[in-house]
This record gives sequence, structure tokens and C-alpha cells, in this order.
Amino acid sequence: MVYPVKTIESERTLEEAGEILTRYNLNILPVVDDGKVIGLISKQVVEKGEYHGLKNSLVKEYMTTEFSVVSPDTPFSRVQALVIGQNQSLLPVIEQNRLVGTISALEVMRILQTEMMKSEKEVSVYESQPLYARKKVIFKFMKERFPERIHHLLMEFGKVGDDLGYSVYAVGGFVRDLLLRGENFDVDIVVEGDGIRLAEEFEKRFSCRIRTHKKFGTAIILFPDGLKVDVATARWEVYDSPAALPTVESASIKMDLYRRDFTMNTLAIQLNPKAFGELIDFFGGVKDVKEKVVRVLHNLSFVEDPTRVFRAIRFEQRFGFQIGKHTQNLIKNAVKVGFLERLSGGRILSELILILHEETPLPVLKRMKDFNLFHFFHHKLKWDEQAEALFEQIHHVISWFDLLFLEERYERWLIYFYGLIDILKDGEIGELCQRLAMNEKLKKRVKEGKLQADQALLQIFSWISTDQQPKRSEIYKILDHLSTESKLFMMAKTTQISTRRYISLYFTQLKDVKPLLKGADLIQIGIQSGPSIKKALNGLLKARLDEQVITRQDEIEYIQKAQGMETWP
Ligand code: CTP
Repeated sequence: MVYPVKTIESERTLEEAGEILTRYNLNILPVVDDGKVIGLISKQVVEKGEYHGLKNSLVKEYMTTEFSVVSPDTPFSRVQALVIGQNQSLLPVIEQNRLVGTISALEVMRILQTEMMKSEKEVSVYESQPLYARKKVIFKFMKERFPERIHHLLMEFGKVGDDLGYSVYAVGGFVRDLLLRGENFDVDIVVEGDGIRLAEEFEKRFSCRIRTHKKFGTAIILFPDGLKVDVATARWEVYDSPAALPTVESASIKMDLYRRDFTMNTLAIQLNPKAFGELIDFFGGVKDVKEKVVRVLHNLSFVEDPTRVFRAIRFEQRFGFQIGKHTQNLIKNAVKVGFLERLSGGRILSELILILHEETPLPVLKRMKDFNLFHFFHHKLKWDEQAEALFEQIHHVISWFDLLFLEERYERWLIYFYGLIDILKDGEIGELCQRLAMNEKLKKRVKEGKLQADQALLQIFSWISTDQQPKRSEIYKILDHLSTESKLFMMAKTTQISTRRYISLYFTQLKDVKPLLKGADLIQIGIQSGPSIKKALNGLLKARLDEQVITRQDEIEYIQKAQGMETWP
């Protein structure tokens, strides 16, 4: 233990903390108020904070408040477990509520290294002790949950890893969803070694294609059955001297996972044959998944990547979790300080699309209101009861439409997006598209699609309000040139049962109606090739929609009659 200890008060600024850290060449400072240790602040946090323009922010806003302490009587084995297992780089030593000293992780590492070098035997004992992570074998569970194809593939990854001398892990959302018993077969692999080399070896041995990104050390492996696996290389840089660590490999995956957003996404499963199915939990991810908590790994998580604010809310609502109290405070702080404003339009748009792609985006948007997030998109955008009701309707309409099992493809997010911007005027929609850095094509789809839907609604409403019964061909004419997204949005937005019935009629009966006669048939009947053919086909389509023709013969007679009159309906 080191004594005396340099400390800082929680009301001091990050800049002041930085000065002390630099002057005394320290990496971490205990934060002490009225003689009690209430947090820890590290050089890394201070430097990053300063980099992000936060030098005047208070230490208390960015200090770590979840940490362990020891007493002068704590056995070294416990100290070792805390430093390595919980990744705590400074342990305050407390006696009778007073800070009497500190123990640094580096010092513990040094002691361990000396111990390890003393005898070979002790090294192997040490390596067999999972001091650095909680581990659990979930081989059986994996076999139960994964389709044979996935299970087999994971084993192959482990075997190829062994052949190349790499440790290989399945990580991230794939593991999280396994524990949550969800279906997610987007396999993410992290390799302690060269990820690209592993992918290349896979390409040699199995039928698959690979795409590599040398700069990032990542690769995508595409299998003929559509399965896609992302392979990444774990970063190696760990502590000052990696050789001092008990197992360099584990430290490497640990650092890779440490960079991630939430504890629930930091779980890994080892795939090498001798340890296949070992779940590795460095940061308490299993506990948080069990307790349904969204928790960041460190206090600058949202400063480093503000998109995580949206991710936290999306995951919270998707899985029925709760964002942890401390993490909620960090979000509020990030919003208050205005970090989200620094996000580029493209990144905000991607997050928004991910939210609107969720199975039920409504609760995510409601939660976004709690955190006051709407004005980052556009100052006029807001979430109220009307928006909520519209989103509910969109959800119903989409569920109805999916049950029709039509071949029609559509983008779910866009329908919800129309719902979100329903409160905005035309010019404001343009401003929002600009803010979200939409390309011209998307801008057009948004602006025109929404406008056309609103105009078509007005047109149909004018029939209803004047008691007109539109012909089937008239319904077709109004709806056919609109995108599926616009039509579904209309269906959700309207309060008129008749409007809904017309759109439903379009999807279920009208949209695929085609004349039986083709252009070549018409030429045979004596229609001149050129624009007349198109006119004739349009006339036939209209007659068929309005059920004036049923058989092929009806169509021929219809054409002959129209030809005789030389007019097309
Ligand atoms: N990640 C992160 N910070 C981000 C985005 C991603 O740390 N801003 C990390 C997360 O740990 C995540 C991994 O990168 O597990 C992969 O990202 P992504 O594919 O978006 O996450 P999933 O968890 O697979 O999300 P989803 O289930 O929505 O696909």
C-alpha cells in the first residue's frame, strides 16, 4: 500500500484533477469529500474529457462511483481478484472510514510477475485460475439453442483458430441474444491473432466468399446459404508491459470488449476446441442481463460516442430492460452538455432508422421524450398523444399488411418516419432531411411520398364528403402510382373507415389486375403498333378493374367496339 495519498474534492474541475495527476505522475486519484472516498477519477477520463472540451466540468460528473475498497487486513488474494477480475486500477485502503492508503494495479501486476517467474509450477496453477473473468461452460445450452448449422460453424471457427494458433471467440449481440433466448444468427467473431488470416483460411477450406478490410483488420465471410459472419481482430495493446500479464491473450479480448457500449454486449464465448462453449464475462454482463440493466462500462462512454444514447434506449425498450441509474445520469449529462449536437446528420439518421426498424418503435420514441431528445432532430419535432396514436395505427396497419403475405417489399422505417414528421410543415420536412444529411434520392422519397399520401387522402375524403361511390378503376388510379409506404401510411393516418376499405381493396384485389390480351394480340386484332397499343391496354385495364370484361372474348369484343367508335374510354 502507498501512503500518503494525493486526493481531489468532487467539486473541483477536470482541469484541476489533470494538474494534480500530471504533477505527481499519477494515473488515478481518489475523490474525497469530508474525509470519505466517494469516487475515483483517472487520467484517461480527464484527458478525454479535456479533449472533448470539458475541462471546466466538475470531477463529480465524470468520476467512477462504483468501485471496491479494501482494508489494511485484506488478504493479497482478494486484492489480486479485485484488480484483475474487476478491472479496478486503484484500490483505496480504508480503515475506520478513513482513507489510509492506496494499492495500484501496476504494483499488483509487478508482484504477480515476480511470483510467476519464481516457479514454473506456480505459473500453471495461476493460469488455471480464472481470476480475470467469470467463466461458465454453456456448451449444452448452446447445443440446445443453436440450429445444427450454426453450432457446427462455431466449432469450425474454433478448429481453424487452433490450427493457426489463435484464440477465437463469438462476441457481442450474438452472445447477448443467446442468453436472452432470442433468435440472432448474425455471428460476430473476435480473434486474438489476425482476423483476416482466419477468414482467408476459411475461404480455402470451405465454400464461402470473403471481403476484407485490411485497415481495420476485419473480414466478412459470406456462405452460399446466406449466412454472414463478421470477423474482427482483437486489439493487442493492453497495459504498459503486456508481458507482465498472466495471459496476454485474455487481456487482448478483454481490451476489445472494454471498448464496447454496454456490459450486456461484452460477453464472449470461447470457440477453440479445448474450451469450446466457455462463456467469458469480464465486466458483469451476465449479471446485468439477468437483472435486465443497461449499463455503460465507463463514464465517458456517451462522450466518446453519443449515438450510444439512442442505442441505450433502443436496447432498453427492445429487451424490457431498465437503463441503470448512473447510466441514466450520464445520458442526461450528455444531453445537457449538448454532445448530441456534435453528431453528424448521417449518424443520427442511421440511429433513427435503426429505432424505426425495431419491431415496436413506439416505446423507444416515448422514452426518447423522457430524455428530451427530439429537438436534436428538428426544433419543431415533438412527441405528443397524436403522434403516439398515429404510431399505434401504423403498427396495426403493418401487422395487417404482413399477414397478407404479399410479395410486396417495403421499408417499415419510412412509414414510421412519415408518422414522425406528420406534425411538420413542408419546409420543415425539407430542413429535417437536410439536418439528417439525406441524399437527394431519399429526400425525394420522403418529401414526395409524404406529400402524395396527404394529397391522395384529401382526394378520397372529397368522395366521402360528397357521398360519391368511386369506381374500382378510380381507386386504382389514385393509389397505383404511390409507393407501398405511402399507401400504408395513408391507411394508418385516415380516420375514415371507407378510406381504409378502399386501400385494402387495392392491395387485396386491384393491384395485380392485368388485361388478358397482350400488345401482340392487339396488333393481330388490327390496332396499330405505337401509342395506340398503350391506350388500348389502359382502356382494357380500366374495363377489367370495373368488371366490364371477364373473359378473353369480352376483351376482344371490347377492343373491337372501341375501335369502331375510335375512342378509348
Ligand atoms: N458497438 C459499440 N458502440 C456503438 C455501436 C456498436 O460499442 N456505437 C458495439 C456493441 O458492443 C455491439 C457491437 O459493437 O455489440 C456490434 O454492433 P451492432 O451490430 O450495432 O450491435 P448488436 O448488439 O448486434 O445490435 P442489434 O441487435 O441491433 O443488431
